Amino acid sequence: MNTSQVKRYTITAALPYANGSKHIGHLAGAYIPADVYARYLRLNGKDVVFVCGSDEHGTAIPNQAIKENTTPQAIIDKYHTQIRDCFAQLGLSFDIYHRTSEPIHHQTSQEFFLNLFNKGLLEEEVSDQYYDEEAKAFLADRFIIGTCPKCANPKAYGDQCENCGTSLSPKDLINPKSTLSGNAPVLKSTNHWYLPLQNYEPWLREWILESHKNDWKINVYGQCKSWIDAGLQSRAMTRDLDWGIKVPLAGAEGKVLYVWFDAPIGYISATRALFSELSQGQRKFATPQSSFEGAKEEDWMKYWQDDETKLVHFIGKDNIVFHCIIFPIMLHASQQFIVPQNVPANEFMNLEGDKMSTSRGWSIEMHEYLAGFPGKADVLRYALLANLPETKDSEFTWKDFQAKNNNELVAIFGNFINRALVLTQKYFENRVPKRVLLPEDEVVLSAIEASKKAISDSIEAYRFREATASMINLARVGNKYLAETEPWKLAKTNLERVGTILNIALQIGANLSVLCEPFLPYTAKKLREMLSIQDLKWVDAGAVELIQEGHLLGESALLFEKIEDSVIENQIQKLMEKKKSMELENTPIEPSKPAISFDDFSTMDIRIGTIIEAESVTKSKKLLKLLVDTGIDKRTVMSGIAEHFKPTDLINQQVTILVNLAPRKIMGIESQGMILMASSKEGKLRLLKPHEIVENGSKVS
Ligand code: MF3
Ligand code: ZN
Repeated sequence: MNTSQVKRYTITAALPYANGSKHIGHLAGAYIPADVYARYLRLNGKDVVFVCGSDEHGTAIPNQAIKENTTPQAIIDKYHTQIRDCFAQLGLSFDIYHRTSEPIHHQTSQEFFLNLFNKGLLEEEVSDQYYDEEAKAFLADRFIIGTCPKCANPKAYGDQCENCGTSLSPKDLINPKSTLSGNAPVLKSTNHWYLPLQNYEPWLREWILESHKNDWKINVYGQCKSWIDAGLQSRAMTRDLDWGIKVPLAGAEGKVLYVWFDAPIGYISATRALFSELSQGQRKFATPQSSFEGAKEEDWMKYWQDDETKLVHFIGKDNIVFHCIIFPIMLHASQQFIVPQNVPANEFMNLEGDKMSTSRGWSIEMHEYLAGFPGKADVLRYALLANLPETKDSEFTWKDFQAKNNNELVAIFGNFINRALVLTQKYFENRVPKRVLLPEDEVVLSAIEASKKAISDSIEAYRFREATASMINLARVGNKYLAETEPWKLAKTNLERVGTILNIALQIGANLSVLCEPFLPYTAKKLREMLSIQDLKWVDAGAVELIQEGHLLGESALLFEKIEDSVIENQIQKLMEKKKSMELENTPIEPSKPAISFDDFSTMDIRIGTIIEAESVTKSKKLLKLLVDTGIDKRTVMSGIAEHFKPTDLINQQVTILVNLAPRKIMGIESQGMILMASSKEGKLRLLKPHEIVENGSKVS
């Protein structure tokens, strides 16, 4: 299909797992580029459906439920809502944000499975899988840990060792243990349905390696090629698990569809749900779009079954194999659905020099950003767009975020618009002034059409970073024009010339209000309000007279605000603290020491005493010299706690003391005993004292 045959677009953005918050790296990977593309096409009057939603199956969900000590249902409800709301605040214009837990998705997935099954395209196979006899459950790969055969990491998972990166199968692990009971699992036979991927190799070679050699991104094409060249294998499309979509076959009790089988079908179910809601006059999260008027329930089919529909999947690079190989094979084999025309996957975005990771606390979660920068969705969109990991991994730093805002959005875009509006207000009663063009003005005006073309070409080639640069460049042209012509100075001598200059600046501003909309939707709206113009379409842009002489402008306001150093420093500080606290959370409690006998224990004489004097020790940062009333006597104890307590805080405190520790000299002073302390994971010390005051000398046993 060439472009002239494209009648409509189906755009998908990877369904995020509803097992946790999502960070700005996810936004840069899939969601922001997808939104720019969808908004651009809509502005061009194209028929577009843009779908997303929560991926609510797979072991990730029950795993998280165990971690948060709650139910899988509570987990998906919590994170579905959080992610959906953050996406909406960031201006992601999905026509629907669906969920794979909805009945219509269960139905669609089961129909899909049955269609393949009835065509004889799935192979049933019996194999031995690990089973936890105590928990009475087959163990998904992630529920088995053991020693990695490659690097001896004792905590490798059944599918992967996170230490050395090797991909594993559960049977590769040495000393496998179930994470459910901690016991060693046993092998038990079970049957599953497999999709023989290798049967589709000739088709894949033709479809990807031949037909999409030139229009798919090299990183995506390269990954596909190496998967295909490595040889494809049958892959199980079912799992033994109690969380997921039931396998719709007799004798398949306790089995669910593999999450990567059902999740991408979620795009189809979402489209079905959208048209069902549209046809009933109720819709969620849809953007106004004329082609949806009078939509019928069955219209979803056009978006998934008609050859003249262009299907594009936006994803991060970890999802390539599923969207370029497995799901397309499913679609192709079904003989009912179209396959994607492009899968413009992005690489990863790092954060301040390290890989982004929610579990390690090295991330900026969407809700954290929104809480810290209310009303600044466009600033994040811009900072991410200007730095998308399109061809290689990229990097987000808070300093760069601040620079993008202060030096580009504020100093170029905002400054330009503000000057044009304020001067028009001041000298022309807020009406677009009359113009008499000079040749140099024509040059500036020609930048409008050129920018429009550059932006369009880049977006259509999935080069969103470049498109963003062309957009801001138009503002730069306008800003430079004002800086060079200096209308604020000219006003004293040649008001007519000032009129022309401002007219031109306002034309650029009006054009920017359309051209920036895919990237900065909130700004576009604000700008149109300030110019007092209606919603424009992409065809309108490029015009050198988009607003007429005499048009009355609206009220001017600042489009962007400067972000101060202190705000940025605060964010960096927060990030460091979050990482530290996650590190602690992730450090296991020290295991217990080897057993001792009761006799060993009773050789220790532990008492409660009271500190009666405390002073610091010259030349020592760590030591305090204490005088303790042990009930038996009053004695000196040297204690290495000076970094944790001030001497005055200790006086009159009851403490636990080991009184029969052999005396020893510390910094020339004899210490007669040891104060016992509780030390937490992060190394903070606390006194151990009885919950009520007791007599000094009371025994601890
Ligand atoms: N939940 C997956 C992830 O976050 C993405 C699923 S995309 C879909 O990596 F196609 F399967 F929906
Ligand atoms: Zn390893």
